[in-house]
Amino acid sequence: MRARHRSAVVASAILVVSTLAITAAGVASASTGGAAPVAAGVAPGSFVDGLPPSVPIEVSATTEAAADRGPAPVGPVLPRALEATHLAAVASLWDEIVDCPAPDQVGGPLADLSISDSLAFYDGRRAFRGQPTWSGGTGAADGRAPTPCAVCHSGPVVGGGRDVGAGPAGPNQVPPLFGIGGLDRIADKYLGPLPDPDDRNNDGIRGSVVGEVIDDDTHRIGRYGRRARIANLREAVRGEVQRWQGIAADRGGLGDAAVERLTAFVAGLAPPPVLSRDSVRDGELVFHRCSCAGCHQPTLLDLTEIFSDGIRHDLGAGLTDARGDVADDADEARWWRTTALWGLRWRQRFLHDGRAADLVAAIDAHGGEASQARAAWKRLDPAARASLLTFLGSL
Ligand code: HEC
Ligand code: HEC
Repeated sequence: MRARHRSAVVASAILVVSTLAITAAGVASASTGGAAPVAAGVAPGSFVDGLPPSVPIEVSATTEAAADRGPAPVGPVLPRALEATHLAAVASLWDEIVDCPAPDQVGGPLADLSISDSLAFYDGRRAFRGQPTWSGGTGAADGRAPTPCAVCHSGPVVGGGRDVGAGPAGPNQVPPLFGIGGLDRIADKYLGPLPDPDDRNNDGIRGSVVGEVIDDDTHRIGRYGRRARIANLREAVRGEVQRWQGIAADRGGLGDAAVERLTAFVAGLAPPPVLSRDSVRDGELVFHRCSCAGCHQPTLLDLTEIFSDGIRHDLGAGLTDARGDVADDADEARWWRTTALWGLRWRQRFLHDGRAADLVAAIDAHGGEASQARAAWKRLDPAARASLLTFLGSL
């Protein structure tokens, strides 16, 4: 009896939702590209990360122009059958659900999220896109107005990165966030043994990890941030809320609710969809032959196709950058987490400060622990080079 009653409710819930879906899809397609951009005020200032001071910040009321979206989302697709109790939440998040790419598409949620995690994902996405007035935030440390996360993490869709860098002393690139929630699941016992400080296997690749104390008594190996100094996703988000929105985001402080919402969004972002490799197998072999995979490891536990080992490497003096949070620590300035190459197909500029305008320049700039790999790349004949570049462009 109970069971029958329940399934009747679910059936009618699905009916209501699919009616909503039809209406909302109509509204969404009618409004594509029509929304006026909302400008967020920015005072000029000088800073290392993110946007150059001269670039005006604009965030569109929808997410992106349709052309920038990459694969077209197939209308609103909810991850699983809904419970009646979730209907109210779905209704209040409907605009966000319609705007968001489908599960497992770029910018969409992981397809296997639970219903409550998907709702938290859409709610977090709304916070990620919105002007942070909910927070009482006072603005970034250098006096700029609070900046919505999606202003910077925007390409090719909300949650991505942004090409802003063009050289050694300019601002740094904004890294895409697709799939990075998965790094949180990797246990210290896996990351800890990865460095080879004495280079026992003679490949020149050593690597390092640093630990961070996240509570009074919890110590965890860093994995977030370009230098992998931040222990977990929540702390990375907390730092960003503080940095760009000026919220006192201490644990238990004003920004806590915001940190939880935003973390649920980033944690649920699906990795970039994997394209077929069949036509680029030659280039994949060259990639392995040059030992690029010594750092850009194709799979990191369940993160298939990430092309990163998740730890830090010293890429030599040319890429050392003693600015920002390591300005007073020359030794730290040479370490970079191996950049995940998934999603490379959407990037236009490369390396932490965007100094490389193409893949050739990016590989040429590798030094330090990557010297042997770069030497192998330099020795390639033109055909092998071309196939490596085609392979990279398919990631
Ligand atoms: C002005 C541009 C800008 C804004 C606004 C911004 N970010 Fe970032 N974000 C960056 C840059 C640049 C980095 C790389 C920082 C580093 O490690 O050097 C980054 C890094 C991150 C990372 C770590 C990524 C990784 O691979 O480890 C997360 C998570 C993140 N941002 C989330 C957010 C959230 C959430 C917001 C909104 C509160 C936000 N960001 C707002 C520019 C921005
Ligand atoms: C010793 C480790 C290591 C090896 C070996 C290595 N890389 Fe990298 N790679 C890195 C690190 C670390 C970065 C980030 C450097 C930075 O941003 O300043 C990077 C960045 C990149 C980027 C730029 C990605 C982006 O989005 O900015 C590309 C492309 C790349 N590597 C390709 C290769 C190829 C191809 C090879 C083999 C010829 C290779 N790498 C070998 C560690 C390595």
